[in-house]
This record gives sequence, C-alpha cells and structure tokens, in this order.
Amino acid sequence: MVFTKTMLFLLFQHFAITSCNAVVGHHHHPHHSLLTDKAALLEFKKAITDDPNSTLANWQEDTEVATSRVLAAKTNSVFIIGRLRYLLLEGNNFLGSIPDSLILPSKLTVLTLLQNNLTGGIPPALFSNCSMLRVLDLSNNFLSGKIPKEIGSCPNLWTINLYDNQFTGELPLFLTNNSLINLDVEFNLLSGELPVKLVENLPAILYLHLSNNNMVSHDGNTNLNPFFTALANCTELLELELASMGLGGMLPTSIGGLGVNLTNLLLQENRIFGSVPSNIGNISMLVVLNLTSNLMNGTISANISQLSHLEQLFLSHNSFTSAIPEAFGQLPHLGLLDLSHNSFFGDIPSNLGNLTRLNYLFLSNNLLSGKIPPTLGHCIELYKLDLSHNRLTGTIPPELSSGLSEIRLFINLSHNQLEGSIPIELSKLEDVQEMDLSSNNLSGSIFPQISSCIALTMINFSHNTLEGNLPDSIGELKNLVSFDVSDNHLSGRIPLSLNKSGTLSYLNLSSNDFKGMIPSGSIFESVS
Ligand SMILES: *[C@@H]1O[C@H](CO)[C@@H](O)[C@H](O)[C@H]1NC(C)=O
Ligand SMILES: *[C@@H]1O[C@H](CO)[C@@H](O)[C@H](O)[C@H]1NC(C)=O
Ligand SMILES: *[C@@H]1O[C@H](CO)[C@@H](O)[C@H](O)[C@H]1NC(C)=O
Ligand SMILES: *[C@@H]1O[C@H](CO)[C@@H](O)[C@H](O)[C@H]1NC(C)=O
Ligand SMILES: *[C@@H]1O[C@H](CO)[C@@H](O)[C@H](O)[C@H]1NC(C)=O
Ligand SMILES: *[C@@H]1O[C@H](CO)[C@@H](O)[C@H](O)[C@H]1NC(C)=O
Ligand SMILES: *[C@@H]1O[C@H](CO)[C@@H](O)[C@H](O)[C@H]1NC(C)=O
Ligand SMILES: *[C@@H]1O[C@H](CO)[C@@H](O)[C@H](O)[C@H]1NC(C)=O
Ligand SMILES: *[C@@H]1O[C@H](CO)[C@@H](O)[C@H](O)[C@H]1NC(C)=O
Ligand SMILES: *[C@@H]1O[C@H](CO)[C@@H](O)[C@H](O)[C@H]1NC(C)=O
Ligand SMILES: *[C@@H]1O[C@H](CO)[C@@H](O)[C@H](O)[C@H]1NC(C)=O
Ligand SMILES: *[C@@H]1O[C@H](CO)[C@@H](O)[C@H](O)[C@H]1NC(C)=O
Repeated sequence: MVFTKTMLFLLFQHFAITSCNAVVGHHHHPHHSLLTDKAALLEFKKAITDDPNSTLANWQEDTEVATSRVLAAKTNSVFIIGRLRYLLLEGNNFLGSIPDSLILPSKLTVLTLLQNNLTGGIPPALFSNCSMLRVLDLSNNFLSGKIPKEIGSCPNLWTINLYDNQFTGELPLFLTNNSLINLDVEFNLLSGELPVKLVENLPAILYLHLSNNNMVSHDGNTNLNPFFTALANCTELLELELASMGLGGMLPTSIGGLGVNLTNLLLQENRIFGSVPSNIGNISMLVVLNLTSNLMNGTISANISQLSHLEQLFLSHNSFTSAIPEAFGQLPHLGLLDLSHNSFFGDIPSNLGNLTRLNYLFLSNNLLSGKIPPTLGHCIELYKLDLSHNRLTGTIPPELSSGLSEIRLFINLSHNQLEGSIPIELSKLEDVQEMDLSSNNLSGSIFPQISSCIALTMINFSHNTLEGNLPDSIGELKNLVSFDVSDNHLSGRIPLSLNKSGTLSYLNLSSNDFKGMIPSGSIFESVS
C-alpha cells in the first residue's frame, strides 16, 4: 500500500519545514493572498457536514492569521503566517464533500485527506492554481465520479493516491510534465483499456498501482502486449501492480523490457494464460512475482533462474502441467515458493534442498509422485511445509525432521501414498503447531516421544494403518486442541490422560479397535 510511502515522504518534507514553524506573530495586515488561503479553508469547512473530532472548530472567520505554514489535525489551532503549504487532515471522519468552487491555495504543496468519509467527486476547479502541488492523497474515502483530467495541469505533482474510493470511467491522460513518481488508484471502479498513452508519458514513475479495478487488456481483453511494450518507457519503475482485474492475454515477451530495477510484479487474480517467457530473466532485480489464480497452462522458462534476488514466487491456482523446473532450486534468496493447486507432475526436484532460506514451501494439490527428497531437510528455515494431496510414495525421510527442527507452524503430508512408520525424528519438531499425516498408508505405532512436540495444537493421523496403543503421553501436550486418529488399527485402552487436557476441543478416535471403558470427564463429556 502506497500511503506508507507517502507518509515517509511527508515526514521527510515535514522535517525540511519545521524550522519555519517556530515563527509566531500577529499580522494585522495580512497580504491579500493570505486571505485567499483563509477563504479557501473556510469554504472547505462549510462543506464538511460532520466533524466528529472537532478538528475544524478553530477555523473561524475572525481567527487571526497566525503561526504556521502547516495545517494539520494535530495542530488545529493554527492559521497561517506565510502561505499555506501543507494541509494534512487525515483520519478525521469528516462527512461531506469537496466544494465545487474550491480552488487549492496556490502555494499548497501537500494535501492529504485520507481516511475520511468524503463523498461526491473531485471538482475540476480544484486544480485551477496547483503549480506547487506535489502530493495529493485522497485515499480511503467514498469519492466517486470521474478522475478529472484537470489533475494533469499540476506540473509538479509527484504522488497521486486515490486508493480505495469509488471512481469510475477511464484514467485520464495526465500530462504532468513528466514528474509523477507514484500513482495509486487501487480499489476503485475504473474501466477501459490499460492506459498505454498514459504510461508512455510517465518516464519517472516508480510505483504504478492499478489493481482491483475493471480495466481490460487490448483487443477485447486478449492482448497484454501493447501495455507492456509501453511500460518500457517507464525505465525507473519499481512496483507494478495489476492484480484482480480479470486481465486476459498471455504474458508477452515485452515483459523483458520492464524497468531493470523492478522489484514487485503483481499479476494475481487475472485471466492470464500460456507460458512464463524466457524474457522474464531480464527483470533481474525482481523480488516478488505473483501470478496466483490465473489460467497459466504453458511452460516456465528456465531463465527464471536468472532472478537472483527473487524472494517470493507465487504460481498457485493455475493450470501448469509440467514437471517442477529445476531452475527454482537455483534461486538463492527464495523464501516462499507456492506451486499449489496446479497439475505439476513428476518428482519433487531434490535441488529444492539448496534453498536454505526457504520459509514456506507449498506444493499441495498437484500430481507429484516419487519419494520426498531427503534433501528438503537442508531447508533449515522452513516454517510451513505442505506436500498434501499428491501421489507421493515411499517413507517419510528421517532427514526431513532432523533438518527441519525449525518448522514452526505446520507440516502437512496428508493425502499421499506414504508408507512405513512415522519417523521418531518427528519428535524433534518442538515448535510445530500442526501436524497432518492423514490419509496415507502409514503403519507401526505412535511413539510416546510425540509429547516432545510441545507446541502441537493439531494432530491428524487419521486414515492410515497405525496400530498398537495410543501412548499415555498424549495427555502431556498442553496446547492440543484437535486430535484425530480415526480410521486406523489402534487398540488397547483409551488413555485416561486425555481428559487432563483443558484445551482439547476436537477428538476423533472412531474406527479403531479400542477396548475398555471410555474415560469420563473433560473432553469425553462432550464427545460422542
Ligand atoms: C478522531 O477521533 C477518533 C475517535 O475518537 C480517534 O480514534 C482518531 O484518532 C481521531 N483522529 C485524529 C486525526 O485525531
Ligand atoms: C493563482 O494564484 C496566484 C497567486 O496566489 C494569483 O495571483 C492568481 O490570480 C491565481 N490564479 C487563479 C487562476 O486563481
Ligand atoms: C466513516 O466510514 C467508516 C468506514 O466505512 C465507518 O466505520 C465510520 O462509521 C464512518 N464515520 C462516520 C462519522 O460516518
Ligand atoms: C508544463 O510546465 C510548464 C512550465 O513548467 C507549464 O507552462 C505548462 O503548462 C505545463 N504543461 C502542462 C500540460 O501542464
Ligand atoms: C516511448 O519509448 C519509445 C521507444 O523508446 C519512444 O519511441 C517514444 O517516443 C517514447 N514515448 C514517449 C512519449 O516518450
Ligand atoms: C536502478 O537503481 C540504481 C540504484 O538505485 C540507480 O543508480 C539506477 O539509476 C537505476 N536505473 C534506472 C534505469 O533507473
Ligand atoms: C532482454 O535481455 C536481452 C539480453 O540481455 C536483450 O537482448 C533484450 O533486448 C532485453 N529485452 C527484452 C524485451 O527482452
Ligand atoms: C535465456 O537464458 C539464456 C542462457 O542464460 C540466454 O542465452 C538467453 O539470452 C536468455 N533469453 C532471454 C530472452 O533472456
Ligand atoms: C499473491 O496473491 C495471492 C492471491 O491473491 C495473495 O493471497 C497473496 O497475498 C499475494 N502476495 C503478494 C505478496 O502479493
Ligand atoms: C492454454 O489456454 C489457452 C486459453 O484457454 C488455450 O487457447 C491454449 O490452447 C492452452 N494451451 C495449452 C498448451 O493447453
Ligand atoms: C544443489 O542441489 C543438488 C542436488 O541436491 C546438488 O547436487 C548441488 O550440488 C547443489 N548445488 C549447489 C550450488 O548447492
Ligand atoms: C492438509 O492438507 C489437506 C489437503 O490439502 C487439507 O484438507 C488439510 O486441511 C490440511 N491440514 C492442515 C492442518 O492444514
């Protein structure tokens, strides 16, 4: 979200001007333009129908022109000594709208009205005299209508943030004399084709955030090439966000012309199909690539291994039908790899074990087969490992658990064809909270040392062929909330220790060969 950056920006600027603030004085004969500034403020105040924080209470006709160039909610006692430069009114719950005839004070540099409840449109007249305006932040309001093209007459505008409003129509072709570096119109109702002419004229832009609108690609939402070709003019681009728009087309080879410093490319929740082209390797500074929830059904170029700074790769919920490229194992900084919900088949490449910084590995819901590579045990910083819903066979490699003692959150190997016993090394996972090994062919008994996994809140060993007694030590798992060992061949007595647990709220022991009395108390009172 951009407004944090905007704020930083402001802070920096604020610093630059605080020295002027110290001036206090009475100006009995304010210059005409000061009165113009004051008139503009009073006009704004008149259009605010509800000011629950009484932020504007001191803005009165008879207030003396006083102390500051900065007018902010936090220092609301001020009127201005010099010309008003900064009008900072975020988070005041204002109701009302921006008056049609309001003209921004001509020296105004920063206007922030974010997080209010303003309705109505942005009146074009606002920008009649905006040559000094650098930052306009109207995000998180209920503003609607078209974005006026007059916004383009502010030659020094650096930042336009209209995030989360209800603007409609097309993005106007701002002619901002090439100074715009930050444009955020996410979460609006903008329509029309992706703005080729606009981006061709934004050579200085760093942040281009258009996500969550109703825009389409060219040729009836089938062609992304014209837009990506035009983006080649944005040589400084750092972040491109085009998510959740239903954009159609293939990833064009012109993607290789994106700014060499691009770090974030967010294209999730669109209708993009085909391959990840080899030109992806050109965007060599990329840190986050998100293609989740598209229709990708081609190949993934091995050139992706050239993205040596990549930290997060989201390819889940697509229609990939290839093997998992070895190239992923060559991304030294990768911390997240999400390939879930595709049709990747074949073995899990053993070189994924080279990804020693990996925190999240999601390969679930694919057609992967073969054994779990023991090398995954080298990914010593894994927090979450999900290999569920594949066709994996063989035993659970002991190396997995001995290497992965860092696993914090969960390990999910369920819905595969794993066999053999549950390796006792799993008892080393002291931080794991959820362990799901259900729906495999695991046999043997549940070892008593399971109680060493003291952080466990959830155990699911159901639908296997486990046998023997349920160890008494289960009752020592002080955080256990859910315990499911149903549909196995467990026998003997149900351990009395289970009713010691104050946290357990789901217990399923059904379809086993348990004998004897069902213990009384605690969880057993509420479970059938
Ligand atoms: C306005 O009032 C609300 C609730 O009293 C408070 O949370 C918020 O911080 C106030 N806003 C400002 C800018 O002081
Ligand atoms: C713009 O502001 C300047 C200086 O404050 C003023 O002289 C001029 O008349 C204004 N122009 C418009 C169109 O309001
Ligand atoms: C402003 O909008 C927010 C978010 O929709 C809402 O929670 C709040 O109650 C509104 N405030 C007023 C004063 O209407
Ligand atoms: C570009 O800037 C110049 C002077 O800085 C100004 O005269 C001109 O109107 C601006 N162009 C547009 C389209 O705003
Ligand atoms: C965009 O880049 C192309 C190719 O470098 C160039 O021909 C064109 O003039 C640029 N457009 C603008 C508006 O600068
Ligand atoms: C890329 O970033 C570097 C370092 O910030 C900078 O020196 C360089 O000019 C940038 N390149 C372009 C094309 O913007
Ligand atoms: C990508 O990189 C290659 C090799 O460095 C270069 O020839 C090509 O022009 C770049 N641009 C695109 C759009 O592929
Ligand atoms: C893909 O990578 C190969 C080998 O590094 C390189 O020769 C080729 O130019 C790359 N292709 C593109 C389009 O970048
Ligand atoms: C990637 O897209 C998915 C699906 O929309 C989303 O849940 C996730 O937060 C996104 N991640 C980033 C870093 O954008
Ligand atoms: C991928 O999907 C597109 C659009 O649905 C289709 O035209 C194309 O034939 C598919 N390609 C493959 C390799 O399945
Ligand atoms: C990566 O992993 C493979 C297979 O596990 C191994 O043979 C290779 O030496 C590793 N490469 C590096 C650079 O660590
Ligand atoms: C493990 O994966 C299965 C299948 O993908 C899923 O149904 C289950 O909820 C997951 N378990 C946990 C603890 O998330």
